[in-house]
Amino acid sequence: MTTALTPDTVVGVLGAGAMGGGIAQVAARAGHMVILADTNRAALEKARDGFAAALGRDVEKGRMDAAGADAVAKRVAYVDRAGEAPMDAFASCGIVIEAIVERLDVKHAAFGALERAVAPGCVLATNTSSLSVSSIGAACERPDRVVGVHFFNPAPVMPLVEIIPGVATSDDVLRATRALVDAWGKTTVLAADTPGFIVNRIARPFYGEAWRIVEEGSADHATVDWAMRELGGFRMGPFELMDFIGHDVNFAVTRSVYEATFHEPRYRPSLSQQRLVEAGRLGKKAGRGVYDYRDGAAKPAPSTDRAAGEALLQRILAMLVNEAADAVHWRVASPADVDLAMTKGVNYPRGLLAWGDELGAATVLETLDALHAEYGEDRYRASPLVRRRARDGGRLAG
Ligand code: NAI
Repeated sequence: MTTALTPDTVVGVLGAGAMGGGIAQVAARAGHMVILADTNRAALEKARDGFAAALGRDVEKGRMDAAGADAVAKRVAYVDRAGEAPMDAFASCGIVIEAIVERLDVKHAAFGALERAVAPGCVLATNTSSLSVSSIGAACERPDRVVGVHFFNPAPVMPLVEIIPGVATSDDVLRATRALVDAWGKTTVLAADTPGFIVNRIARPFYGEAWRIVEEGSADHATVDWAMRELGGFRMGPFELMDFIGHDVNFAVTRSVYEATFHEPRYRPSLSQQRLVEAGRLGKKAGRGVYDYRDGAAKPAPSTDRAAGEALLQRILAMLVNEAADAVHWRVASPADVDLAMTKGVNYPRGLLAWGDELGAATVLETLDALHAEYGEDRYRASPLVRRRARDGGRLAG
């Protein structure tokens, strides 16, 4: 059977929270009829209000006329049945994208019920960020039609979508799903069904190494942030970004990647971050995280010694380039997709492999080997690919 997902395909979205609401907007703007369902009426109302506000801004800024905005808004049907999963609403869908709570038992129950409600040709996609697509598909009689479609937050704004085939996903479903998301104007990359996929795996040292530097007293938070922002060109420093994301969320992602890789030391979570979470200092949303966001609080000043800042940047960057190279080595993704993913998914100023080539694989290796010698920890082992490129002079970016 050949799966065809066309502009006429009705798109179902299960879960109307931050991600599901955004994904519904993307599909509706691309011209699809969308069925957005949630067990919680308040979530659906919030999603509807959020979409109306976004369309209102488009009209105000002249990007759309009022009639056009009205037509787009009307493409989304909001379905709720208090407390019970409204799967029968998806009977006409060609694809249903699941974006409910990140718990395998809840997703299993949802996929089992979804499969009984939809047509035989309907694709079942999951927006999971940390569970394996293969494990979610295992709840279905036909796991060949289950595929990972991982959007970034906020979905209407962030261009990247990781497409993840599980062990049983058919080539046909993979191709049709990727073509559909491409047609929505998103940048798709293909990721293996491995913990954190591409972005959430490769980004770990941005946070983890920054914590280590502060924990051992080499620099304070503000100085690390300053070095990464001003010298590295990142939009936010690691601590500013973690405060923005929320330490509860960031810590949970790190922990899940660490546990799902059978305790790979490169991904070991930070105890200081755990203490922040325990203390309720979750970041901006709580008024306090690493920094104090309460009225009148002043942000600490960084020390702006350039040479020291460059050393901090070099250490974190070497870890990031190593992580990107290792993802290529282990066939998580192609070199091109790795670089695309980090620039389009988390706004890195450039692709890490291209950056590594500019620094030189030999320089990256030297930094990693010096850290390894100093700490004696497996955390700092260089990827075989970095070692090989340092030796043969070839490019990491391919
Ligand atoms: P959220 O908590 O904002 O929304 C989840 C929604 O699902 C809620 O409205 C809830 O009422 C609903 N829900 C829960 N169980 C349900 C069920 N059995 N049937 C129908 N509706 C149900 O969560 P968020 O952040 O939107 O995340 C959703 C999924 O997307 C998770 O798998 C998460 O890991 C993933 N994700 C989250 C990202 C983020 O930055 N928040 C980024 C990429 C993926």
